[in-house]
Amino acid sequence: MNVYDSHRMAMMLQDMGYVKTDLQQDADLVLFNTCHIREKAAEKLFSDLGRALMIKNERAENGLQTVIGVAGCVVQAEDEQIFKRAPFVDFAFGPLTYHRLPQILKDIEAEKQSCVLDTNFPAESKFDFLPQNKAEGGCSFLAIQEGCNNFCSYCVVPYTRGVEYSRPVEDVLAEAKRLISTGTKEINLLGQNVNSYHGEDARGVERNLAYLLNKMAELDGLKRLRYTTSYPADVDDDLILCHKNLDILMPYLHLPVQSGSDRILKLMNRRHTAETYLEVIGKLKDANPNLRFSSDFIVGFPSETDEDFAATLDIVDKVGYIQAFSFKYSKRPGTPAADMEGQIPEKVKKERLDILQTKLFDLQTKFNQASVGKTFDVLFESSGRHKGQLTGRTPYMQNVYADASNNDLGQILKVKILSATTNSLEGKVANNG
Ligand code: 5AD
Ligand code: SF4
Repeated sequence: MNVYDSHRMAMMLQDMGYVKTDLQQDADLVLFNTCHIREKAAEKLFSDLGRALMIKNERAENGLQTVIGVAGCVVQAEDEQIFKRAPFVDFAFGPLTYHRLPQILKDIEAEKQSCVLDTNFPAESKFDFLPQNKAEGGCSFLAIQEGCNNFCSYCVVPYTRGVEYSRPVEDVLAEAKRLISTGTKEINLLGQNVNSYHGEDARGVERNLAYLLNKMAELDGLKRLRYTTSYPADVDDDLILCHKNLDILMPYLHLPVQSGSDRILKLMNRRHTAETYLEVIGKLKDANPNLRFSSDFIVGFPSETDEDFAATLDIVDKVGYIQAFSFKYSKRPGTPAADMEGQIPEKVKKERLDILQTKLFDLQTKFNQASVGKTFDVLFESSGRHKGQLTGRTPYMQNVYADASNNDLGQILKVKILSATTNSLEGKVANNG
């Protein structure tokens, strides 16, 4: 979601005449987009800001002004603390008000204001005010839903991104058409809790994610469709049917379970158990036997025992994830879990994370190795590390690199897989001699 937000902010700045630079020394404006989900992500901002201040001072010695802004969830959570910790920041706003960026910059340029802070939960939707989106390549994100009403006990999202909001069906389709007409072949529909989507159609009737996926599948020129991130308890039968009926829907689904222990899931305030989660996985596999899964895991949640952790390892074996994200529990101020008894020592968290990741990486490597000799459709997204090479993704989101010309960027080509590691596949474009 932050990548999507950053892209939209960059588009607004381009419309205002700003040009992207890779060198911070050259930047008249530096805008950080931030994540508050774990402590490490939030702390990174303040060390990055320290570096930005040094560059701002160097530039000032040469008579150059630098405006520094901070966007995103850290601002929403820290509020005016941002200016206390980093008084040289010129403006800061949360994830729900970035449509106001042009006005804020105009005010700052006109020296009308400084230290502008905008952390309102606005009545209007920013999506109604953002300029039209444009594709940056063959794959695009498209935010259809934002916020979350689940209040998992460890998570800051409901406090930083607010309550659930779904964009109207017609708005989503219009943005999708615009992305396709500017070069997109694959769209990944985004939401913190994307499968609780309930946007209104043109007649004001609330529609679910399955309805939207069916509409998206009818769009000319769209080749691939994905959606992220789903909440297991909200996977309904309509959605399961999409995985049977819609060829355009890629056979890879991110469905976070967080833990395999029912006791921990309850403390996490998740509305599923290990068993109900596995039931959903079973139904999805019945709908499309080619479907594979990824997940998020948290280890070392307060009071997690060796037994609870063993249940997490067990669910990994049962599902056989082909990819996953795993994290040590991170105490987030203001969330219920932060005050729970039985906080787990860092050393234990690290040991458990190492064990879990070894298992997950092993599964990922095995899946990649089983791909050797097979041919996949690969959508090429960017230049490879070496000249004459491009990288792209298989339907299962595996990274592939292969020799290909720059004309193939944004194209889907058949690629035979020659070798595999944990993180990438090497391939050869099938019709390339
Ligand atoms: N500590 C560790 N991981 C967290 N996540 C969310 N909140 C926390 C936290 N406090 C993880 C969850 C979620 C992913 C986006 O980040 O696994 O699915
Ligand atoms: Fe956070 Fe996801 Fe739980 Fe919502 S469903 S509170 S975004 S972990």
